Amino acid sequence: MTHILHRQIGHSYPVAAAARGITIRDSAGKEYIDASGGAAVSCLGHAHPDVLAAMHGQLDELAYAHTSFFTSQAAEELADELAAHAPEGLNRIYYVSGGSEAVEAALKLARQYFVECGQLQRRFIIARRQSYHGVTLGALAIGGREWQRKQFGPLLIATHHVSPIYEYRGKRADETAEAYGARLARELENKIDELGGANVIAFVAETVVGATLGAVPAVPGYFKRVREICNRHGILLILDEVMCGMGRTGTLHACEQEGISPDLMAIAKGLGGGYAPIGALLIDEEIFNTLAGGSGAFLHSHTYMGHPLACAAALAVQRVIRRDKLLENVRRQGNYLSRRLNERFGNHPFVGDLRGRGLFQGIEIVSDRGTKEPFDPCYKLHARIKHEAMARGLMVYPMGGTVDSTRGDHVLIAPPFIIDSAGIDTIVERLGDAIDAAVAI
Ligand SMILES: Cc1ncc(COP(=O)(O)O)c(C=O)c1O
Repeated sequence: MTHILHRQIGHSYPVAAAARGITIRDSAGKEYIDASGGAAVSCLGHAHPDVLAAMHGQLDELAYAHTSFFTSQAAEELADELAAHAPEGLNRIYYVSGGSEAVEAALKLARQYFVECGQLQRRFIIARRQSYHGVTLGALAIGGREWQRKQFGPLLIATHHVSPIYEYRGKRADETAEAYGARLARELENKIDELGGANVIAFVAETVVGATLGAVPAVPGYFKRVREICNRHGILLILDEVMCGMGRTGTLHACEQEGISPDLMAIAKGLGGGYAPIGALLIDEEIFNTLAGGSGAFLHSHTYMGHPLACAAALAVQRVIRRDKLLENVRRQGNYLSRRLNERFGNHPFVGDLRGRGLFQGIEIVSDRGTKEPFDPCYKLHARIKHEAMARGLMVYPMGGTVDSTRGDHVLIAPPFIIDSAGIDTIVERLGDAIDAAVAI
């Protein structure tokens, strides 16, 4: 009997006992290749000696000091590191302990910024359907997964949703990718006009949609148009790079590939690589200056923000990624992963789409490639795939509700940045067997 309220009550979880590199071993001695970095977290793999040494060193000096009394060297150095490589203008860092907290902080900072600017009427947030921004009430409210939101509906702030970029299903046959992106950008602008541009606080989007759609990037030009629209109406652009950021798509920030900078950006997961719980909000200098010249404080704080151990871990993770030029490996192995997935699944009768960037790739499963009809949700195909993969010693990240929060299944693949081509071959082979077994219903 367990005393833990696990994610699935009644499910029996193996006990993770040890981990090295790309492999986790359970207490029965079975090994699993971590082909999803958990949930796109373990970017450096497990037990990296440099990160462990930095964490041990930090523990010996200082485990914790409350941020209302002190700053710490680890927190300051990590902020320097993040600011030095941030998208243009994002020069200030606000620490939190995970992705939902980063998104929550972004929403509140955006509102406080406008209050301090004297624009108190700005009160609406626009986000996208089929997105995930976390589970705290603000993050849940802006998220687009209906199955996760609906029972908490009475507790959620009113938010407005527009269509996500989802080329496989959303682009019309008579449209180019650019025209599709322009159409969806117009949809955003129509929504802004409906609410009144001067009443909107922010538009929030995942730069590459992660868990909900399965590694779906934007089409060319979409985010440039979104940036222009936000500028025109004085609306803040908040990018959620909790999952797709910190190198996962082959550049440190996914928005680099879109040629834009947001006003606020949430990061987490790959920031600390799983060595410690940490997230951060990257803040545009203009927003920071408004608070600095106004109230002098962001009215929002957590006990564990800027935790020295978490900051030391994240700093070590980021330094190793840069020192070892691991983003080059993300791009190289990302191309190889894409090629191998195409070879294995390109003509698979139940694979409708392969997509993604770098080591952030998705497979959408359908029951009919021609009509794109998904499997009946009652099969819980995504859960079967996860089960079959685990049985074969493989961790991937399947999810259901891809199409509309109820129908559709996809698999997210997000291996550590240290993966080599032999590791990718094994992942593709085991995943192919797992999907074949799961669809044989
Ligand atoms: C894009 C995105 N935003 C926010 C979150 C929430 O992060 P956390 O689970 O650390 O609260 C996630 C988690 O998967 C995510 O993928």
